[in-house]
Amino acid sequence: GPRRRLARPPSVPSVIAHRGASMEAPEHTLAAYRRAIEEGADGLECDVRLTADGHLVCVHDRRVNRTSNGRGAVSALELADLAALDFGSWKERHADPYESPDTALDSDASDARTGAADPERTSVLTLDRLLTLVAEAPRPVELAIETKHPTRWAGQVEERLLELLDRHRLRTPVRVMSFSARSLQRVRAAAPHLPTVFLMQFLLPRHRDGRLPGGVRIAGPSIRLLRAHPEYVARAHRAGNEVHVWTVDEPEDVDLCVRLGVDAIITNRPQQVRARLGTT
Ligand code: G3P
Ligand code: CA
Repeated sequence: GPRRRLARPPSVPSVIAHRGASMEAPEHTLAAYRRAIEEGADGLECDVRLTADGHLVCVHDRRVNRTSNGRGAVSALELADLAALDFGSWKERHADPYESPDTALDSDASDARTGAADPERTSVLTLDRLLTLVAEAPRPVELAIETKHPTRWAGQVEERLLELLDRHRLRTPVRVMSFSARSLQRVRAAAPHLPTVFLMQFLLPRHRDGRLPGGVRIAGPSIRLLRAHPEYVARAHRAGNEVHVWTVDEPEDVDLCVRLGVDAIITNRPQQVRARLGTT
């Protein structure tokens, strides 16, 4: 049921890696998700979009411009087009504050020498591949899949998503998240037992009492929403719903989530959040 809490002490939220361990590795790459699993994350978050030829890929933005060396909308590209792009190198331009300059130079030099980039750090990731990673993980890992701009495709995103979930039949918890109540409604109509998360950037008057659109049992408020409305967590719990908060990277925000008793924290830095929670 919605109040089930695995093996953690009652007040410790589960830690969900946002786009993988995306502070350490390029977001939505296999490397980022492997890293999150190594860091002990309880679960993985990913965004999914449909390509022009009907494949679900893990990409956040509408276009590939920010996170690859290509240009254009995911929906206008085929999987083969995306597979030819580099989804990792943009990240190298952002200095890692924990890596010493010497190490950074060494790895640059070795890449330049061999001309080889790690494909797990640079390739587009399909949802299919991510599901396999979760199925083969050495311990149970949850998966939270977010449908992005699903209205454009009039149900195809959800249809394809449910097909893939059906095929993989993961034995660990899977949930579907969306800012779109209609998208969640479609998922619930086709798969009533699959938990759904209603994402909220702001608290609209109709959600203040903690209740959610038909049948959804998990609220997904932003951390900003919670800072402004800390009373929301208790209200959601009273209405029988869980609360999963995004994107929580700062220690003070982790502490706030613990104080309020949130059920899950979605973060770019699973290792640091786990350390703050005292679970490492
Ligand atoms: O986990 C929910 C959160 O990821 C929603 O915002 O923009 O990061 O997809 P965004
Ligand atoms: Ca997301």
